[in-house]
Parts: sequence; structure tokens; C-alpha cells
Amino acid sequence: MLRAIYPGSFDPVTYGHMDIIERSHNLVDELIVGVLCNKAKMPLFSAEERVKMLKEVTKDLRNVRIIPFDGLLVDFAARMEAKLIIRGLRAITDFEYELQMSQTNHKLEPNVETMFLTTSIEYSYLSSTTVREIAAFGGDLSQFVPEAVAAALRKKMCTKGECNK
Ligand code: PNS
Repeated sequence: MLRAIYPGSFDPVTYGHMDIIERSHNLVDELIVGVLCNKAKMPLFSAEERVKMLKEVTKDLRNVRIIPFDGLLVDFAARMEAKLIIRGLRAITDFEYELQMSQTNHKLEPNVETMFLTTSIEYSYLSSTTVREIAAFGGDLSQFVPEAVAAALRKKMCTKGECNK
């Protein structure tokens, strides 16, 4: 049984994340999308909201589970009995951070490997940060996130007093 973890902040989930989820869930028996709670990162969406959105957009994928976590990723992997971490690589700018993270995780837990999937070209520019910025200025989100996520972003911007539309 090969169980993998695809960890991230997912604040919010984008088509880029979904590309990695859709391509990697077929490679393993079970894919756990690990949602980092970490309030220190001051996420726009609470962990509960991010989990809810991920559950909605992955509801048709039979072997995908969405689970929030806090603390070290390797400890979460041990609790989940997962031996593989999956991360997406968009561009060379991601590489340094990803290399450092995978090597640190390997030092902490040599039995857990990190596997990288290069993001599909059409999403290589996309990040949650830019999506949040477009939402803050009332831009069209339809190319970047599913409608359920776009609706949640619009609602969130209104509750923050940044309602543009
Ligand atoms: O989507 P992100 O913000 O790039 O995801 C980063 C994440 C959640 C994978 C990373 O911050 C993480 O694993 N955090 C848990 C803490 C940890 O294990 N740190 C040591 C590895 S550097």
C-alpha cells in the first residue's frame, strides 16, 4: 500500500494544486492532502475553510483524503504511515526552497522520500498569493480557481471590507 502526502498551505487551492492532485493520485494507492494549520503564517482562510474547499474540489477522486496538520511534516507523515511526500515544482525560483525542505525532511526522517512533479505549463505562473491579490482587487478568478473557491474568495473579501463586486 503506497500512501503519499501532498502538503501545503492551500490558501486557497488553485488549478495549479489541482493539477498536481489529479496527476499524483493515480500514482499511489492513497493520496492525503495535508493542509498546514499554522496560524503564524496568517492565512486568509482558516484551516477549516481551506479543508472544506479542498474537499469540495476533490470530491470525485476516490483515493484522496484531506487532513489538516500542525507541527513537522515528517511527524504528520509518520502518523499517517506515509512514506512519500509529493510537491509541485513550477519554476527555478521554487527549486531552492524545495531542495532545502526535502533535504531537511530527509535528515529528520530518512525513510520518507520527496517526489517532485513539474507543474503543467498552463499553471506554471499561478500561485495562491497572486490569486488572493486578484481577488482583493475584484479581478476575474475563473482561469485560476474553481467557481466554489472564487465564490469563497469574493465572500471573504466582502467580510474583510474589500468588496469590489
Ligand atoms: O504551500 P506551502 O506554503 O509552500 O507549503 C509549505 C509546507 C506546508 C509544505 C511547509 O511549510 C511544511 O512542511 N511545514 C511544516 C513544518 C515543517 O515540517 N518544517 C520543516 C521542513 S522545512
